[in-house]
Amino acid sequence: MGLGHLLHNNPDPGTDGLTIDHGAGYDVFGAVFFGGRRGRVCRRLAELSGARDGDHVLDIGCGTGYLTRRLAAVVDTGTVVGVDPSAKVLERARATTKETNCTYAVGVAESLSATDESFDVVANCLMLHHLPEELRTRALSEMWRVLRPGGRLLIGEFRPPANHLGNHLIEALTGPAMADNPLHLLEPMVADAGFVGIGSGDLHPWIRYVTASKSGVVA
Ligand SMILES: C[S@@+](CC[C@H](N)C(=O)[O-])C[C@H]1O[C@@H](n2cnc3c(N)ncnc32)[C@H](O)[C@@H]1O
Repeated sequence: MGLGHLLHNNPDPGTDGLTIDHGAGYDVFGAVFFGGRRGRVCRRLAELSGARDGDHVLDIGCGTGYLTRRLAAVVDTGTVVGVDPSAKVLERARATTKETNCTYAVGVAESLSATDESFDVVANCLMLHHLPEELRTRALSEMWRVLRPGGRLLIGEFRPPANHLGNHLIEALTGPAMADNPLHLLEPMVADAGFVGIGSGDLHPWIRYVTASKSGVVA
């Protein structure tokens, strides 16, 4: 049994994605797994998202709100909405969020309830590999739909270790979705969804990020 089975236990999650349902356990796992660098990585992701003062930001698959809160600090007078299919993980997000410009709602990446062009920035971290492949494409179309023209996208994804031993350990611990994460498909999927100005990079220890924008006039 992988660690995943200890964290996911919702028999009716409302999505074919793999939900996190034990928020406190997930945060302990995240702290250990990132070797104390989780805060630094998420602050950097918030910067890379291009979010700025006054922006309206959507964090999809927000889990316990770790990135959501960092985004809230960056947008200051703006607002951040975190969505996740797991009502249980959102309970923890709400309980650990002091930022008043941050709210949470149940939602799924493949069918967002937000209206068209309603966000300046859409972000997600460690979420896409929780979706079956066919839902990843739908999720990216939804991200494009809810972004305003010129709005910005940030994806942070798990970057598996390059060596076999490390990868076997990841697979034993968390399962194949992380160990076999097809990062090479990320940028083509983002381009296919209609995004332009695509950039990417790595953050130590585990993250590949992709940034892009929705074609349009307003930057
Ligand atoms: C590994 S956690 C990442 C949480 C948070 N973004 C972070 O970086 O700590 C993946 C999250 O994706 C959520 N998830 C699963 N299926 C989803 C879906 N269809 N739409 C949106 N989020 C989903 C899970 O419930 C979980 O909270």
